[in-house]
Amino acid sequence: MTSDISKILFTADQIQAKVKELAEQIERDYRDKKPVLVGVLNGAFVFLADLMRHLDLDCAVDFVSWSSYGKDTSSSGVFRIMKDLETNVESKHVLIVEDIIDTGLTLHYLLDTIRARKPASVKVVALLDKPSRRRIEAKADYLGFQIPDAFVVGYGLDFAQRYRNLSCIGILKPEIYAGRGTPPDEIE
Ligand code: PRP
Repeated sequence: MTSDISKILFTADQIQAKVKELAEQIERDYRDKKPVLVGVLNGAFVFLADLMRHLDLDCAVDFVSWSSYGKDTSSSGVFRIMKDLETNVESKHVLIVEDIIDTGLTLHYLLDTIRARKPASVKVVALLDKPSRRRIEAKADYLGFQIPDAFVVGYGLDFAQRYRNLSCIGILKPEIYAGRGTPPDEIE
């Protein structure tokens, strides 16, 4: 699988060091708050699993899954909840866990949805941020790395559901998605 990577952006060790650093910040801010960590499926499950094991906190975990009907329709806000939270987050401290913020649309609509449920607070931790791709304002309260506008895979991030199991994060070789007729970020 790593032979399909043109450049490793972050090694497994660099990712783990960053995840630990983020966990330390979160731990300081959430002591005695019993946060609910909300993972955005599928990409965030690897990051969330590592992050929570570094947290010496009383916390709960839940997941949401969104379908955006492809990137073109997502710009008009056509989101569908495939899996909703099972937790009632009213009056609770919610921490959304994202693997990557790209256009910002997923996070924007997820924040709207969660805020409507009247949590005590809602914040965001994201491992990666691609600010050059932003279409709507979206910001992480805790951020791992800013990255350039390249197609990255690994550590939960996929191309056509592959490469999520890589322990590093790297740029996919263009020839891997060449011939699909569609840029990778438009493939479901
Ligand atoms: C990715 C990622 C974020 C979202 C960010 O999910 O996990 O949830 O895209 O993109 P945005 O800022 O442009 O909205 P994706 O829809 O690729 O699904 P996946 O997590 O199952 O890979």
